[in-house]
Amino acid sequence: MSVVVLISGRGSNMQALLEAGLPVSAVISNRADAKGLETASARGVATRVIEHRGYAAREAFDAALADAIDGFAPRLVALAGFMRILTPAFVARYAGRLMNIHPSLLPAFPGLDTHARALAAGVKLHGCTVHFVTAELDHGPVIVQAAVPVFAGDDEASLAARVLAAEHRIYPAAVRWFLEDRLRVEGQRVIGRGLSESENTLISPDPER
Ligand code: GAR
Repeated sequence: MSVVVLISGRGSNMQALLEAGLPVSAVISNRADAKGLETASARGVATRVIEHRGYAAREAFDAALADAIDGFAPRLVALAGFMRILTPAFVARYAGRLMNIHPSLLPAFPGLDTHARALAAGVKLHGCTVHFVTAELDHGPVIVQAAVPVFAGDDEASLAARVLAAEHRIYPAAVRWFLEDRLRVEGQRVIGRGLSESENTLISPDPER
C-alpha cells in the first residue's frame, strides 16, 4: 500500500504528502543536499540518495533508481520536484503507478520556468497539475488541476508561492484517490470513481470576497 517519493530539492510537496498521513515508506533523492531529505528523516521516513552524477548514462542511473525503489515494493511512485528526465524503460516499468506534480495548467507550459513563462505570456489563470507519467515529458493523463489567478503586481516569486499552496492541496488528494483505487485511465482521460464533478478541478477562492 506504500508510496515512494522522489525529490531533488526542498521537498515541500513530499512534506504535504507526509502531513496528509499518506503511507510514504521512503523518500529518494538524486541529490545528497536535497533539503527534503532532512524533513523526511526527522519524521522517521527512510531516505536514500542515488546521485545521478555517479552514472555516466541515463539508463544506468534509472536502473539504480529502480532498484532502490523496488527495495520498498511501493504501489505508487510519486515524483515531487524530481528534476530528472526519465528513460522510457523506467517509465514503462512503473506504467500506471508513476505520478508527477507540475507547476502549470498542462498542456500549457510543460518543462521548466513555468511561472516566468506564464507571466511573459500574460495569462490570467495559472496553476498546477497532477498527472500520470508517460514517456512524453509532462504529457500524461491529468488526474487533478488547480487554477490560481495571476495578478498585475505578480512576479515569479509571488506567483510561484500561490501555485505552490495549491500544489500542496491537490497532490495529497490525487495520491489518496490512487491508493483508494478510485482512478481509472481511459486513453488520455482519468475517470475518478465517486469523485464529485468539482473534486478534481480546484479553483482558488476569489481573493476579493
Ligand atoms: C514544485 O513546484 C513542483 O511542482 C516542481 O518543482 C517544485 C518542487 O518543490 N516540479 C517541477 O517543476 C517538475 N518538472 P518542492 O521540492 O518544494 O516540492
